[in-house]
Amino acid sequence: MLATIITPLAAQVPQHPGRATNFAERPAIAVGVAWYPEHWPEARWDTDLKMMRAAGFNTVRLAEFAWSRMEPAEGRFDFAWLDRAIAAAQRHGFMVVLGTPTAAPPAWLTQAYPDTLRVDENGTRAGHGGRRHFSFASARYRVFARRIAQEMAKRYGHHAAIVGWQIDNEVGPPSFDPESVAAWHKFLKQRYGTIETLNERWATQYWSQHYDDFDSVPLHATGQQNPGLLLDFKHFTSATWTGYVQDQARVMRPLIDSRAFITTNTMFWNSGFDHFQMHRDLDIASWDNYIPDGRPDWVANGANHDLVRGYKRRNFWLMETQPGRVDWVPVNRALDPGQVREMAWQAVSHGADAVLYWQWRSAMNGQETFHGAILGQDGQPNPILPEIAQTAKGMTAAATLLADTQPTAKVGMLFSYDSRWAIDIQRHNKDFDPVKSFVATYRPFRVASQGVHILSVDDALSAYPIVVAPNLNVITQAQADRLAAYVRGGGHLLLGPRSGMKDDANALWPQRQPGPLGDLLGGRVSQFYALDETVGVKGGFGTATASLWAEALEPTAPDTQVLATYSEPGGWLDGKPALLSRAVGKGRISYLGAWLDDAAMRRIADDLLAQAKIAPLVPSAHPDLEISERAGGGKRVLIVINHGKEPRPLTPPSGARLAQGDWANGTMAAHGVALFNLGK
Ligand code: GAL
Repeated sequence: MLATIITPLAAQVPQHPGRATNFAERPAIAVGVAWYPEHWPEARWDTDLKMMRAAGFNTVRLAEFAWSRMEPAEGRFDFAWLDRAIAAAQRHGFMVVLGTPTAAPPAWLTQAYPDTLRVDENGTRAGHGGRRHFSFASARYRVFARRIAQEMAKRYGHHAAIVGWQIDNEVGPPSFDPESVAAWHKFLKQRYGTIETLNERWATQYWSQHYDDFDSVPLHATGQQNPGLLLDFKHFTSATWTGYVQDQARVMRPLIDSRAFITTNTMFWNSGFDHFQMHRDLDIASWDNYIPDGRPDWVANGANHDLVRGYKRRNFWLMETQPGRVDWVPVNRALDPGQVREMAWQAVSHGADAVLYWQWRSAMNGQETFHGAILGQDGQPNPILPEIAQTAKGMTAAATLLADTQPTAKVGMLFSYDSRWAIDIQRHNKDFDPVKSFVATYRPFRVASQGVHILSVDDALSAYPIVVAPNLNVITQAQADRLAAYVRGGGHLLLGPRSGMKDDANALWPQRQPGPLGDLLGGRVSQFYALDETVGVKGGFGTATASLWAEALEPTAPDTQVLATYSEPGGWLDGKPALLSRAVGKGRISYLGAWLDDAAMRRIADDLLAQAKIAPLVPSAHPDLEISERAGGGKRVLIVINHGKEPRPLTPPSGARLAQGDWANGTMAAHGVALFNLGK
C-alpha cells in the first residue's frame, strides 16, 4: 500500500495536556535505559533489573531491534522470552516502552524477499548485516512490519507495565528502488493532478525539461536537478515516511491501552522528512539527544529540544541519550564529569518528561561495543553510574513538583522544513547553512528571554508577543495571510534574510522578497548578495558586521522605517537599508536583510524584548547559566543549570524556594543543577 493513500488514525486526545503521558497515576518523570535482555543469559536479568532500580531508574525500553528473536522464521513467532523479560521488568516495578523492531529486518526476510531491500541513489541494493536496510516504499516490507507490530500489540497491548510504544527507530534514509519510483509518480500525480500543472510549477520550459507524463519524472535527491523536483522529493519522503510509521500505528492503536502513547524516536535536525508532518498523527514526540564531540553548546542543544517540543507543542520523551560518549564520530570524546547530569536536566527543563540512556550494557560484539554504556562488559558499573544514579534520584524526587508543568516562553520562532530544504538546494553561498542560521538567531533570543518555543509556520501564534522567522524562504499565500493577521492583531514579526522568496514548489514568487508579505512590510529586497567578506552595518543598535549574506532593502510605503543601513565598503550595498520596520494594525513587522554578528543580534533581541516588555526570569544571569521555567497545574518551577566549570552567582527571583540542587549562598556550583519552586 502506498504511503500517500493511507488514512492515518488520529493521535489520541491528551487527557493530561500538561504531561507527555496519559497515565496520571504513574510517575510524571520517567528515567531509565534501553535494555536488551536478548543479548544476555536470562539468569542475569534479575541482577540487571535490581541494579537499575538501585540506580533510581523506573523505566526500560525493550525489543526495538529484536525481530529475529521475536519472529525467528517467517510467520513463526516466539514471544515467550519477551513475556518473561517484561514480567521481570514489571516485578521490579518498571514502566516499559516497547519498540517495534522494524529498523532491523531479519536475514530470512531480506533473503527471501530481496525486493524489500533499500536501494541507494546510485542503484546499489543494501545487504544484511547493518540496519535500516529496507525500502520505505516496499508494500511487502510493510506487510511484514505491520504483522510483527500487530502481533506485539495483540500480545502486550494491555499489559499493565507498558506505558508507550515506539515505532521503528530513527527512520530517515530514502530508497530509489522501482517501487519507490512508482510511489513517487503516484505522489506527484496526487500533488499536481495534471502533468501540465507540474510543468508549470517547476517551470520546465527551462532547459527543455518538459515532462509528457508523471511516469517519466526521474526520482532524484541530489545532483543538478530542477529545484522544484528536489523540494518535491522531500515532500515525497515526508509523506512516505509518515505513511510508513502510520501504517504500523494504524494496526496497533485498536489493540493497545488508549492511554499508552505511540511515538517514533527521531534525530537532531534530521533533514529526511518534515517532522511536523510526521508527528501530526503520533501521540508524543520523542528523540535521541547525542553530543557527538562531547563538547556541549548548551544554547544550540536547547534549540534541539525546543524543536522537538514544537512538533506537538507538548512535553516529549528523551528516548535516548549518551552515558558519556558515542562511538560514531572521528573522536568520541566523553562528556566531562557532571555534564551527563547537566544534559539530562536540560532536556527536562525544555519539556522532556522522560530521560532514557542508551544503553545499559553494551553487547559483547557488534558495531557499537565502544559506545558509552552504564555497565562494562563484565557487568560491573562504569565510572558514570554514580552520576546517572544521582540524576535519576533527583528526577524522581522532583516528579511531583514537575508533574503537569511545561516550558514557558514569550518568544516564538518559526522553523520551516520547506525553507530549510529550499535554501540547502540553492545555497548561493556554500556557507549559508540554514540550521546554523536558525541557531544563530535562536541564541540571543533564548539567552535574553530565557524561553523560546519553536513552532511550525502553521501554528497558532497569538500567545507570543514576538515571533521570529530567521529564514522563511518558502511561504504560501495562506501562511502569509496568517502571519499578516498575527501582526495586525498585535504581534511583532521579525523576518530574517532570504524570507518570502519561494512558493511551495520552490518557484520564485513573482514579486520580490518578502513576496506575499511585501505589502504588509511596505518594503522589499531590491537585490541579494552572497558575501565572501564582511560588510559594515549601522543602526539604532550601533554598528554591526554582516557576513555570508546581505540584501539591499527598499521601503515602498511612506511609513516604513529604515532602522539600519549598510556602510562602506559595501559596494552595491553602500547606504542601502539593511533593516526595515513598519507598524501595522496593532502590531509590527520588521525585516532584517543580513546575517549579523552575534553581538548585534543580541542587541536587536534585547531591543525587541524591551519593546514587548518581556523581562527575563533572572536578570543578568551569567552566560554559563541556563535559566528555564516550567509552569502548569498551579505551579511554577525555575530550573537553573550551570553549564560551566566555575561556580557562578545566582540570585533567584524573590519568593523562590530551593526545591533541590546545587545552589547555596547565592552561588550555583560548577556543573550544578537547581530547582526552585516559584509558587503559583
Ligand atoms: C541511536 C540509535 C541507537 C544507538 C545510538 C548510539 O542513533 O537509535 O540504536 O545506535 O544511536 O549512539
